[in-house]
Amino acid sequence: MTRYRLQLRHPSGVTPIHVGDGVLSDESSQLEDWVLDRRVFVISSPTVLGLHARVLAPLSERAATWNVLEVPEGEDAKSLEVAGSLWEAILEAGGKRDSRILAFGGGSVGDLAGFVAGSYMRGIDYAQVPTTLLAQVDAAIGGKTAINLTKAKNSVGLFHHPQRVVADTRLLRTLPREELRSGLMEVLKMAILSDGELFVALERDLEGLLSGDAATLSPVVAAAAEGKISIVERDPTERNERMLLNLGHTLGHALEAGLDYRLLRHGEAVGYGLLFAVRLAERRGLSADTAGRIRQLVDRFELPKLPALEVDTLVEFMGRDKKIDEGGWRWVLPTELGSCEVVSDLAREEIEQALQDFLTELS
Ligand code: GLY
Repeated sequence: MTRYRLQLRHPSGVTPIHVGDGVLSDESSQLEDWVLDRRVFVISSPTVLGLHARVLAPLSERAATWNVLEVPEGEDAKSLEVAGSLWEAILEAGGKRDSRILAFGGGSVGDLAGFVAGSYMRGIDYAQVPTTLLAQVDAAIGGKTAINLTKAKNSVGLFHHPQRVVADTRLLRTLPREELRSGLMEVLKMAILSDGELFVALERDLEGLLSGDAATLSPVVAAAAEGKISIVERDPTERNERMLLNLGHTLGHALEAGLDYRLLRHGEAVGYGLLFAVRLAERRGLSADTAGRIRQLVDRFELPKLPALEVDTLVEFMGRDKKIDEGGWRWVLPTELGSCEVVSDLAREEIEQALQDFLTELS
C-alpha cells in the first residue's frame, strides 16, 4: 500500500505528515511513541467516536492515562465556552505541560483542539488525526487554530503547529458523498492554484474520488497536502503568498455566513467562490479554454442549488472577512491552470455588478 511521508518545515520545527490507506495503524506514523507514557487527551466529536474510536485502541494502551473529551459536532465546537470547559477538564484530570492532545475529527475539532493545546499552560504538544477529507487536505496542515466569535468565524486563534499529522484515507470510507465533495473542492482549489497535473487527475478520477475509494484518494490527498505545505513553508504566518489559499474563499465565506452556516458545506461554498473567481479572471485575460475546463469540472461536482441571496448581504459579509485589511479587497484569481495572482485594483462597483450578474445566471 502506498504511503506518503511528507514534512512541513515551520518556524517552530518540522511536522511530519503521513498520508495513506491504513497509515494510522502503521508504525511509521510514530504515534505510539508520541503517546508513550504520557497523559493523553483526545478531543473528538460523538459521530467520529461512534464510527472510529476503536482504531485508537492500540494508542490508548501505550499512554499513561487516556481521556476522551467529547465536543459538539461542527462549528458549534469552536466556542469560548467549549474551549473553557476543555481547559478545565484537562486541568482536573491532571494535564501537565508535557501532556498531549490528540485532535481526532474534522476541521472544527482540529481548529479547537489546536487552540486549546496552543493556549493551555502557554502551549502543549498536539497531533492531528483528521477524519474528513477537508481536514486532511487543508485544515490539519499549516498550524492555524481558532475559535469563533458570534459574528465572525475563526476570529480568535493562534499559529500552533501540530507535532505530527496522520491522514489515514481509510477513515474517509464512512464519509457521505457531500462531505467528500466538499473536501474535493479544496483539492480542486489547490490544483488551480499550483498543480496542473492534479487538475488533470481530478478530471480523470472525479467519480472514483467522490465514491470515497481510499486507494484513489491517497495520491490526491498527498498531492493537495504537498501543494499546501510548499505555500505555508514560504509564508507560515500569511504575510503574502499564503493568501493565495484564499482562492474561492472571499465569496465562499460570505455565502456560508449569508446562509447561517447551514445550507452549504464549506467546500460547496468554495465551489461557488471558484466559479465567481473564474468569472472575474476572464475579464483580466484568463483564457476561455481554461475557464471552460474549470467550469466543466465544478459542474461535475453537482453543487446544491443556491437559494435567492441579496448582493448587498453578500457584499457586507465580504467586507467583514478578516483577510480584508486597510488596503481593501484582495482577490485571488487564476491566470492559468496551476497559477494564480492576488489583485487589489478591482473597484467595488465592478465586483457588485459581476456578483449581481453571477447570481442572476445561477437563479
Ligand atoms: N486554510 C487556509 C490556510 O491554512 O491558510
